[in-house]
Amino acid sequence: MQDCTGVRISGTTTHVSFVIRLVRPEDAESIRAIYNEAVRTTTATLDTQERDLPTQLAWIEKHQGDPYPGFVAEDREGIILGCASLSPYNPKPGYRGTAENSVYVDPHAQGHGIGEALLQALLDDAPHREIRTIVALISADNLASLQLHRKLGFRTLGTLERVGRKFGRDVDVTILQRHTS
Ligand SMILES: CC(C)(COP(=O)(O)OP(=O)(O)OC[C@H]1O[C@@H](n2cnc3c(N)ncnc32)[C@H](O)[C@@H]1OP(=O)(O)O)[C@@H](O)C(=O)NCCC(=O)NCCS
Repeated sequence: MQDCTGVRISGTTTHVSFVIRLVRPEDAESIRAIYNEAVRTTTATLDTQERDLPTQLAWIEKHQGDPYPGFVAEDREGIILGCASLSPYNPKPGYRGTAENSVYVDPHAQGHGIGEALLQALLDDAPHREIRTIVALISADNLASLQLHRKLGFRTLGTLERVGRKFGRDVDVTILQRHTS
């Protein structure tokens, strides 16, 4: 299993071979491009401002490992195809064992098992960081992400109505949860 020591896992689908590894500073522009595409065109994130390079580098610094890792999927040519991470669910110390997850795949690489491999990597890794449970907050219209999380065992707890707003419309957010051990 991928972890801070640099051990890699690999995945192969019909069209794409890739490894999953911890994020590095040199991944910043690639991750930023994937994330900012989602900012501009989707409600996958309710960010409305594109992420700049210093912010992305700070994010990578914060996701170097314990307790919140960031992983990338990288193909044989070194192209970053997607990324996934854990972040604090709530900064209060009593929530230390709970994390929120995110996963983003380059639109050109979607549908090839990369999102699933990234999310599975987070789930496999989490118990080693004493993350006991993972919460996913997903825009209710994001069928691909909802299906991905359900496929990997996340249970739907409910939907918060009209808690978000983007592109001039209200956004409902569905909460899902999976225990990691
Ligand atoms: C959601 C996302 C991460 C899925 O990644 P992906 O690599 O395209 O998905 P995978 O190929 O690994 O698919 C795994 C499973 O996800 C679900 N899924 C993926 N794409 C789907 C789609 N378009 N419609 C419905 N279900 C879909 C399926 O259950 C699929 O399993 P299956 O192939 O056995 O049917 C990707 O579409 C993405 O990055 N979207 C934009 C950003 C985003 O929405 N991120 C999530 C924020 S909460």
